[in-house]
Amino acid sequence: MPMHVAVAVSGRGSNLDALLRTLGPDAPARVVLVVSDRRDAPALHQAAARAIPSIVFRDPSDPQEWLEALERHAVGLLVLAGYLRLVPSGVIARYRDRIINIHPALLPAFGGRGMYGRRVHEAVLASGASESGATVHLVDEVYDRGAILGQARVPVLPGDDPERLAARVLEAEHRLLPAAVLAAAAAGRPVPIHESVESRQ
Ligand code: GRF
Repeated sequence: MPMHVAVAVSGRGSNLDALLRTLGPDAPARVVLVVSDRRDAPALHQAAARAIPSIVFRDPSDPQEWLEALERHAVGLLVLAGYLRLVPSGVIARYRDRIINIHPALLPAFGGRGMYGRRVHEAVLASGASESGATVHLVDEVYDRGAILGQARVPVLPGDDPERLAARVLEAEHRLLPAAVLAAAAAGRPVPIHESVESRQ
């Protein structure tokens, strides 16, 4: 039986889309549920278009809402793909080491509270770093702190602005996240990704 995956989203949903495109009918993982803190998250359209059940939490800080949904769908892996709030600690405790997040920088640098979206790429550019990338990591009670499972690197190029860098990192995210989910499905739990998921640019 495929690993049942729930994906938590707050916004656009391009990582959700990349994951759904990768997971064909015979894949070892299947997205069975999409959850959101925002009724207007465009990502919810991805779920609707593919007839995947979705839930918008009345109170995203209430662990019971999460746990009921995750248990009802027998979820084995929770993927945060552009989910912008902290997951309630009661959920993390119950699903410890079964929750992963995708972050648009090379953690442990450029992570933590408030480091999301454009701000991440602005900070990378301001630092003068010569590379950036995407990180998949385990989720614990603190933003962006859990064990790193895999990274995909991209160069910072002359003339980059936050939008150009973000677009390059996003391509890397779209390769890294499905690879992490497939590796987790094969192992039965999230595991470090050993194969190279380097930028092909
Ligand atoms: C991505 O950059 C992801 O790393 C971050 O939020 C963004 C979500 O993009 N956590 P999308 O909603 O998947 O398009």
